[in-house]
Amino acid sequence: MYKMSAKPMISAKQIQTRVKDLATEINSTFEFDVILSALTGAFMFTTDLCRAMANFKHRIAFIKASSYGSGMESSGKLKVTGLEKLDLKGKRVLIVDDILDTGRTMSTLVSMLKEAGATDIRTCVLMNKEERRSVDFHADYVGFEIANEFVVGYGLDFDEDYRTLPEVWTLEEV
Ligand code: IMP
Ligand code: MG
Repeated sequence: MYKMSAKPMISAKQIQTRVKDLATEINSTFEFDVILSALTGAFMFTTDLCRAMANFKHRIAFIKASSYGSGMESSGKLKVTGLEKLDLKGKRVLIVDDILDTGRTMSTLVSMLKEAGATDIRTCVLMNKEERRSVDFHADYVGFEIANEFVVGYGLDFDEDYRTLPEVWTLEEV
């Protein structure tokens, strides 16, 4: 059995402050055409980031990236849907995801986007678990560096629960 930590690991206020800073950093360092958001985990982060960047030229597109399995371990097999419907040829793309864990999702997405003809690709994640990396990958923009703990809330799930919470919590075994 698992339950949420007694207190949030990252409060809603901390997230909002950091997202605004991140938006300023991105706006001043990367001119791009499309925000490509990886559903479902990145949904809340993406909307807050869009509001904070507030650039009418940014287009928004969503893909679904899932690594099958349930629970706390990904199966390693990544399934991506929705990319085939997008025209990213010659586009400068900001990929947004919730968390960088093993790095497999992001590195696969970057390869797929290159294949689709995107010319400049940068990546943005709300959280980075550097310790967990199994492939060599660095995100260009990172909201929070976190320890090797399983986190939920603000888009992130455990078996599809917890996603709609406005703050990030750790999940503890009880
Ligand atoms: P990666 O491909 O191993 O980097 O994992 C990326 C995906 O695994 C993320 O987009 C999340 O959906 C999921 N994930 C990794 N760590 C966590 C976590 O601590 N909580 C919830 N989901 C996670
Ligand atoms: Mg997930």
